[in-house]
Amino acid sequence: MSLEEIRKDFPILEEKVNNKSLVYLDNAATAQKPIQVIEAMMNYYLHLNSNVHRGVHTLSQKATDEFELARKEVQNFISAKEHEEIIFTRGTTESINLVASSFCEKFIGKDDEIIVSELEHHSNIVPWQLAQEKYKFKINVLPFKDNGELDLDVFKTLLNKKTKLVSVAHVSNALGTINPIKEIIDLSHKQGIPVLIDGAQGVPHFKVDVQDLDCDFYAFSGHKMYAPMGIGVLYGKREYLDQMPPYHGGGEMIKDVSFECTTYNDLPYKFEAGTPQYLMCLDLKLQLNIYTR
Ligand SMILES: Cc1ncc(COP(=O)(O)O)c(C=O)c1O
Repeated sequence: MSLEEIRKDFPILEEKVNNKSLVYLDNAATAQKPIQVIEAMMNYYLHLNSNVHRGVHTLSQKATDEFELARKEVQNFISAKEHEEIIFTRGTTESINLVASSFCEKFIGKDDEIIVSELEHHSNIVPWQLAQEKYKFKINVLPFKDNGELDLDVFKTLLNKKTKLVSVAHVSNALGTINPIKEIIDLSHKQGIPVLIDGAQGVPHFKVDVQDLDCDFYAFSGHKMYAPMGIGVLYGKREYLDQMPPYHGGGEMIKDVSFECTTYNDLPYKFEAGTPQYLMCLDLKLQLNIYTR
């Protein structure tokens, strides 16, 4: 595909800003949307609009099939072992909040420790601070060196028996540093410590294979990779997701509801309460088809 052909996919590039042709360089904040995604959104509302997993009528069945197909596309895109390990969220921020809330409730207590790096986006700092207030653990901050790289020598000294989780970005949104996540994961796993990777800036740039990385969680946003706003993904290993309590309560995340005893749904639905941003999921699937590397 030539650059000219790719440019034609993005109608917004025809816009004039201050009487000049638009030059858009803010892709780290959000990517522009190709015409195929814009048309798919419109077609969805024109021809398929209905709720997923909630109706036996044709439109609902079709929308549900597309929604679940999108999940499998994402599974293949990041080479996850099972499609049940793909949780649809509103974006990286919600994915990390989900882990900070549910993982900490199950696995972290007073006097435990977690490690986050100094390079992190606020969405990989504040959710841990909120959880810290509740569960009273310690947050150890992994510093970076003058050249912008994480200090792995310090990292090795921070890992200890009390460390229950490491959470670092794949790529720093501020410095552009590509972190040695494979090494960080290997070092952590040697001590049995799970690792969350904030992939908001990683997935748009690299082929990500979560099984090869062996990360325990990987979070990313659709809108930074040409999908519309409002859809993201949390990949998590089943061994952790199965044990973690639900994050939100509501429809879809339950098997049975009564005032005496409510039982929760299986993965991935346990973590997907309420009507999802499924239009966005369909587009994420479409976008993966267009621009897969
Ligand atoms: C590294 C990183 N993490 C997390 C986020 C948050 O992503 P979102 O706002 O899509 O949830 C961003 C957004 O810029 C980011 O660059």
